[in-house]
Amino acid sequence: MPFEELSIRKVTLRPAHILAPMAGITDTVFRRFIKRLGGCGLIMTEFVSSEGMLRRNLKSERFLYYTEEERPISAQIFGAEPAHLAEAARMIEDLGFDMVDLNLGCPAKKVVKCGGSGLLRDLPLLGRIFHGIRGAVKIPFTVKIRSGWSDEEIVAVEVAKLAEDSGVEAIAVHPRTRLQGFSGRARWELIREVKQSVGIPVIGNGDVHKPEDARALFDQTGCDAVMIGRAAPTNPWMFRQLADYFSAGHYTEPTDADRYRLIRTYYQMLAEEEIPGAIGKMKQFASWFTHGVRNGADLRRRVQSANHPREVITLVDDFFAGPVTSPPLAEFPAPL
Ligand SMILES: Cc1cc2nc3c(=O)[nH]c(=O)nc-3n(C[C@H](O)[C@H](O)[C@H](O)COP(=O)(O)O)c2cc1C
Repeated sequence: MPFEELSIRKVTLRPAHILAPMAGITDTVFRRFIKRLGGCGLIMTEFVSSEGMLRRNLKSERFLYYTEEERPISAQIFGAEPAHLAEAARMIEDLGFDMVDLNLGCPAKKVVKCGGSGLLRDLPLLGRIFHGIRGAVKIPFTVKIRSGWSDEEIVAVEVAKLAEDSGVEAIAVHPRTRLQGFSGRARWELIREVKQSVGIPVIGNGDVHKPEDARALFDQTGCDAVMIGRAAPTNPWMFRQLADYFSAGHYTEPTDADRYRLIRTYYQMLAEEEIPGAIGKMKQFASWFTHGVRNGADLRRRVQSANHPREVITLVDDFFAGPVTSPPLAEFPAPL
């Protein structure tokens, strides 16, 4: 069965379905919410700046908050200064995370100047970073890459080999280039090339929107685990559906009652945690999630004008008290 289980040393992912790190989305509340729905074997934090961590920046500390329920959990860091990244990785280990991951994929201008996919253009520096982090921690160390800077500079296989030689224990590949951003398609054939070139586990990522896509990814690449990003906030059942599809050959679509319970549960969790920006997250989630619901635009509009988390919950209760139907869920709008 594809993606039944994967062990990265002592950390077992069962099943090998991973929630991708997504800045602004995969905070502790969203991670627990996904975990409780079932079918997800590993969750990751949003990326955290190693420089921010060393400065004990409040935001970085908030990003690194997690609960026991979230295990196994990996923390993702970014940066470009080998000694600082090594120190940040040590802090991640001290905080009790199960694994540490290095971001080599972020395409944002602000980030590529000091890490992210910018490092794919400087392999000697990358080698020093790998060795620094490897020497600093005992927990498994993984990396997540894009395929390269541009179509002319595809370095996925080279980076994967460098990573393996440096003691990195798994590599996630999102096979788009930095210049590509989120346009076009993810070139899964590059995941296959990486899989054929290294012995460490390869995690396939990119454009998996439904269980059938995960099956095709496995068939085409032979990757060891699947990582899901944008499909998670539009269809949080995705992981459960994946598990059902692989074990029973079929999966069910959520009912109206499921949808109501889901949005209500997530909002309740956000309100109870009183996390900063809860109202903004509610608005964001409403705009992804209600696209598939009849009269969803009406709910979206009302949620957008709300001022308090409790007010949003009341709006959702009132909305679902009336009849609703569920056309297919919407595609997640890709960021620029
Ligand atoms: C809003 C958003 C935020 C993201 N933040 C991160 C991040 O913090 N770290 C990272 O490695 N990738 C990040 N990504 C990339 C995803 O992890 C993933 O590689 C990408 O979305 C492709 O997978 P998908 O097609 O399943 O969405 C982000 C993507 C999105 C859409």
